[in-house]
Amino acid sequence: MFDTYNRKINYLRVSVTDRCNLRCVYCMPEEGVKLLKHEDILSFDEITEVVKIAVELGFEKIRLTGGEPLVRKDITELVKMISSVKGIKDFGLTTNGIFLKRFAKDLKDAGLHRLNISLDTTHPEEYRKITRCGELKYVFEGIETAVKTGFKEIKINTVIDRFSDEKNARTVAKFAEENSLKIRFIRKMDLEKGTFWNVIGGEGGKCSICNRLRVSSDGMVTPCLFSDESFSVRKLGVKEAFIQAINSKPEKGVMSRAHKFYNIGG
Ligand code: 5AD
Ligand code: SF4
Repeated sequence: MFDTYNRKINYLRVSVTDRCNLRCVYCMPEEGVKLLKHEDILSFDEITEVVKIAVELGFEKIRLTGGEPLVRKDITELVKMISSVKGIKDFGLTTNGIFLKRFAKDLKDAGLHRLNISLDTTHPEEYRKITRCGELKYVFEGIETAVKTGFKEIKINTVIDRFSDEKNARTVAKFAEENSLKIRFIRKMDLEKGTFWNVIGGEGGKCSICNRLRVSSDGMVTPCLFSDESFSVRKLGVKEAFIQAINSKPEKGVMSRAHKFYNIGG
């Protein structure tokens, strides 16, 4: 479908949980956040229905996000259900990599095409500081397993303060190069203040070519990360929620009080 600014909207990011096993300083407060109630979270059947209708409306690219998608119980089951939907050209998942060693092969077997892995430093101490609790070793093991499993085009997402040649970012760039992984630098954003930037090496943050919609884990279809509007698939029905969201996609983002990275998945 095309929006009112003639952008072709064909990329859907689906947050499958607001939970996360890390507490990255730029994403969550240390004490954690108020979590959604179990009954408010879309079931696997509901998520699959959302994807099915999205594909009927012309979406071709699907990405699962979180929170951390691998903490959702039986996530590989959901991946299987989604990958059986006909018409998806690109099916990816964004993870912090902590649980990836355990899940990589099952995800591949379940039909997932691609993985994006978040990594901001290769120093264990720095990693612990940024994530407040993360054990870097698990991420390395996760990446290694994903590579061995045969995932192609693995991308590393690196959050930076301002520049891609900051100390931590440089260590990740080196690691990515040594392991033939693509890397993208994401400058820290502030949803409430409305500060956002183009993703270096990616397509995010460029309003004029934005092709995405997002669905939160409680089924709110969101036209833009930097706008407070959203449309409930449960209240409106999936198709109507999509149509209204596409029609209210703003020309460019401004700011959002309602959205958080941990419930909308970046
Ligand atoms: N600014 C930019 N990106 C962020 N993410 C989380 N918080 C922020 C922020 N404040 C992104 C990171 C992470 C993904 C889950 O969300 O890229 O990889
Ligand atoms: Fe979790 Fe990702 Fe947020 Fe870090 S940035 S706390 S890994 S959701």
